[in-house]
Amino acid sequence: MIAPVLTLPDSPAAWTGWEERVRLMVRPRRFEHVLRVADLAAQIAAANGLDVARAYAAGVLHDIARDLPDAELLRLAPPECEIDGLHPLALHGRAGRTLLERWGYTDLVVLEAVEDHTTGPRGGNRIAQAVYIADVSEPGRGVNAEIRELALHDLNAALEKAIISKVTYLQGKGITVHPRTLRSYQELPCCAHPASGRPHPPATAPSSTFQ
Ligand SMILES: [Fe+2]
Ligand SMILES: [Fe+2]
Repeated sequence: MIAPVLTLPDSPAAWTGWEERVRLMVRPRRFEHVLRVADLAAQIAAANGLDVARAYAAGVLHDIARDLPDAELLRLAPPECEIDGLHPLALHGRAGRTLLERWGYTDLVVLEAVEDHTTGPRGGNRIAQAVYIADVSEPGRGVNAEIRELALHDLNAALEKAIISKVTYLQGKGITVHPRTLRSYQELPCCAHPASGRPHPPATAPSSTFQ
């Protein structure tokens, strides 16, 4: 059992404390991914006029619950829909937020970014958008280099490309899209304004699996 963090780090030096906590929570290769996501999220933030420190922090924290066992994920983030129950891994963003809140972390923008990195950013949270894009396109993944490059010039365009690609891929495979991902899709400017020619996806898709 890991002892709770009772106070927030309030100086840049103290951030090593949170990084160390994440390092202890995840597998070594995951931690390498986490650091690449944090670096890329910070670059995306800088390129788009966002809070670089917050983006880095959200990148460091985003996968804090990623390597927890299913039972722990289900305890920290009770399922909201059938997909959650069938695929507890999809809960690791929400579980991570719960964990951080219990440990005294209070930055709501960062907490929301952690929560939404699995299913898609909501409500115009730009830090969440930067982390979402960094997570799917960091160099270690070996995919989505074009999304990464796009985000370093135009985060909105990169987000649109990433979410539309994901929803289109899942639906093409007959895989049910998570309701939160559908909501992110429907919040995209191109989808919120049907005049753009982009159709809304159906509310549900035919099968019962996720990503
Ligand atoms: Fe993740
Ligand atoms: Fe990740």
